Amino acid sequence: MAKTKKAWSAVLVMVVAGVAGAAALPSAAIAEGQCNGKSKPCPLQKWMRDNAGTPMASGELATIAKSMEKAGTFGGPDMKDWAKLAKKTSDDARANKTDDVKADCKACHDAYKEAYKQNAALRNKPIP
Ligand code: HEC
Repeated sequence: MAKTKKAWSAVLVMVVAGVAGAAALPSAAIAEGQCNGKSKPCPLQKWMRDNAGTPMASGELATIAKSMEKAGTFGGPDMKDWAKLAKKTSDDARANKTDDVKADCKACHDAYKEAYKQNAALRNKPIP
């Protein structure tokens, strides 16, 4: 009995400490481990920056073709056009069609960026 009581008080101390720690954060901060798209970029956001934004800026279409092939597997549930949009981006990059690729990036962003921003679970989902 005494042992159980001790264990419980240890849990209680941890819980209280956790709350105090959270309270010390600025009010705009979100739960630990959660991205916010700004100071703490979200997994897909960061992946896109590194694997799409950066190679696109330097015209490395071969890299884009590979990245977008991979990105085709990242879509969330109910995103029925995701894989198709990623494949088109990859195909256009492989064919060196820069303008088409730019339009492809935009097409997917127009279709799904907002959905990501509205859905915390989706936004925090790790890159597979
Ligand atoms: C299949 C869909 C899809 C395609 C194709 C796609 N993106 Fe994205 N991209 C997204 C989504 C969704 C986000 C938002 C992720 C988030 O904010 O959590 C995003 C975010 C980004 C970001 C991060 C922006 C920020 O807020 O920092 C960059 C950069 C980016 N994409 C570049 C590109 C480029 C360049 C291409 C084309 C070569 C491209 N993307 C193609 C879905 C796509």
